Amino acid sequence: MARPATYTFDNVSLAKDGKQIFGPLSLNLREKRIGIVGQNGSGKSTFARLLAGLIAPDSGQVHLNGANLFKDRKTALAHIGVIFQNPDQQIIFPTVIEEIAFGLQQQGLNKTDAHRRAQDVLARHGRADWADRNTHILSQGQRHYLCLMAVLAMQPSLIILDEPYAGLDIPTSMGLHHMLGKLDQSLVMITHDPAVLQEYDRVIWLENGSVKQDGPAAPVLADFSAEMQRLGALQC
Ligand SMILES: Nc1ncnc2c1ncn2[C@@H]1O[C@H](COP(=O)(O)OP(=O)(O)OP(=O)(O)O)[C@@H](O)[C@H]1O
Ligand SMILES: [Mg+2]
Repeated sequence: MARPATYTFDNVSLAKDGKQIFGPLSLNLREKRIGIVGQNGSGKSTFARLLAGLIAPDSGQVHLNGANLFKDRKTALAHIGVIFQNPDQQIIFPTVIEEIAFGLQQQGLNKTDAHRRAQDVLARHGRADWADRNTHILSQGQRHYLCLMAVLAMQPSLIILDEPYAGLDIPTSMGLHHMLGKLDQSLVMITHDPAVLQEYDRVIWLENGSVKQDGPAAPVLADFSAEMQRLGALQC
């Protein structure tokens, strides 16, 4: 039987400008639905970049079943898709169809097949008419949704979503929530909205680049929400 995918943070730490911004952190990620919560600047996006192997820790390593994800980019690209908090960091092509097809070509499809698959993905999302749209004139929410479709098209086994609901209108958010719920892939979901994570297997609460609490969704979300309410009340 295939070994379950285990992503491991092994004593990972990261400093910027002489200041420790993350870790040291050691944990194993095996659950299919993992939520990440924490205040602004708590290290959630840094966690996502480290997990995807996009940045190197100063010490320690992030592994997938033993493969170092920063050094072994082939393994990282084959397994992990990331939807960044800011779609401007992700979109590079002038048209929607090219943007989606690019990832598929990187996975080995020829241009014709990649474009055909990209068109299928757009149709499945009810956005077939987006194919030739200029990515630069899409709204921020539309650009975010394009990034989602491009990552889903590549069918990674783990999808990391960094605040994917930010900027989406209510019907698009509801459609996305429904679609993510049905996905077979593992998800790591970064969000400020505890309601999104209620059914999740595990929630990790980050604070100052460290784990404040880690466990089943209900108790972690209850404590996190109470603390956010307490801090919010201090601002009033
Ligand atoms: N490249 C960098 N150089 C310097 N500091 C950085 C860098 N990247 C992140 N940081 C710092 O690390 C901390 C964590 O940042 P991060 O973006 O991971 O937070 P976050 O939890 O995703 O916040 P938000 O909820 O606002 O998205 C912040 O204090 C940030 O300023
Ligand atoms: Mg962030």
